[in-house]
Amino acid sequence: MIPFDAIPRDQLPALLRTAPKAELHIHIEGSLEPELIFKLAQRNGVKLDYPSVEALRAAYAFTDLQSFLDIYYAGASVLLKEEDFFDMAWAYFERAAADNIVRAELFFDPQTHTARGVDIGVVIRGLHHACQRAHQELGISADLILCFLRHLSEEDALATLEAALPYRQYFIGVGLDSSERDHPPEKFARVFAKCRALGLRLVAHAGEEGPPAYVTSALDVLKVERIDHGVRSLEDPELVKRLAKERVPLTVCPLSNVKLCVFKDLSQHNLPALLDAGLAAMLNSDDPAYFGGYLNENLVQTFEALPQLGPRQAYQVLRNSFEASFVPDERKQAWIAQLDRAFAEAAG
Ligand code: ADE
Ligand code: ZN
Repeated sequence: MIPFDAIPRDQLPALLRTAPKAELHIHIEGSLEPELIFKLAQRNGVKLDYPSVEALRAAYAFTDLQSFLDIYYAGASVLLKEEDFFDMAWAYFERAAADNIVRAELFFDPQTHTARGVDIGVVIRGLHHACQRAHQELGISADLILCFLRHLSEEDALATLEAALPYRQYFIGVGLDSSERDHPPEKFARVFAKCRALGLRLVAHAGEEGPPAYVTSALDVLKVERIDHGVRSLEDPELVKRLAKERVPLTVCPLSNVKLCVFKDLSQHNLPALLDAGLAAMLNSDDPAYFGGYLNENLVQTFEALPQLGPRQAYQVLRNSFEASFVPDERKQAWIAQLDRAFAEAAG
């Protein structure tokens, strides 16, 4: 047993930063920093609607999910070649290594690129090479999760899956993202059933802006293994009981939630209530280039803003990140042993 009470609160930020951790909810296109957007625009001869890096960054004032997505898809328009996808992912991995991330599961949105005439193989090969190099040079275990855009039709998702199948060995699962309101999980029942039959791991965004009923249908209809966000689950006490009983992981993204006006500020975030209810929540950065911080910033700022969260909860969310990751059990246990050592050392 780790004596959490022996860890001084003022040591918590350093412990959160240095502890090993997994990131399970990062849209790789959301890690594209304005500087890299401009560099790639120049390299590829793409015209941007903003005159400078500063002007682009100044436009990052969002009122809801859709207002963010409009700018996020525009930013991704500079990605054309395999090396662009590699460079974007490599920049993320360098930051991930600095945050002591040892496991990363990267979302990517192929439809954002294929709609612009980019071959899906270009997207997947570029990202896959960066994952391979992250493992070799940075010691980060990394895999890809292909996301379907829920504002598009299920037919489009089915065609995307078909186009991705020649690269089946390069992604471990599928997810569902983009505009949640009015696009319930049920809309994608057939494509998720197909993915399940193919042995792909399944996740979906639900209960970010959409109602708790979308969390329930993501579990019951799509049969997902993790819920991305899920913060609105707390509005349905029966659902909360179920999520706790079944230990369904929630990939919570606090800085994203504040930027997209799901919560007014970090001190209003419901992470303490989620953990108190026994839910398997962990923290993630979602789209760090747009929301003002990578994983360590999410951890440190959230724990700073919420005094009811201490070393015990810090350990719990980091442990949850490993338990919810899509790797063999022995691998999880080895990382959890490292985490235990970090906390035991901090306790003195
Ligand atoms: N795509 C990128 N970030 C997203 C988010 N937070 N919610 C839904 N779709 C997204
Ligand atoms: Zn997301």
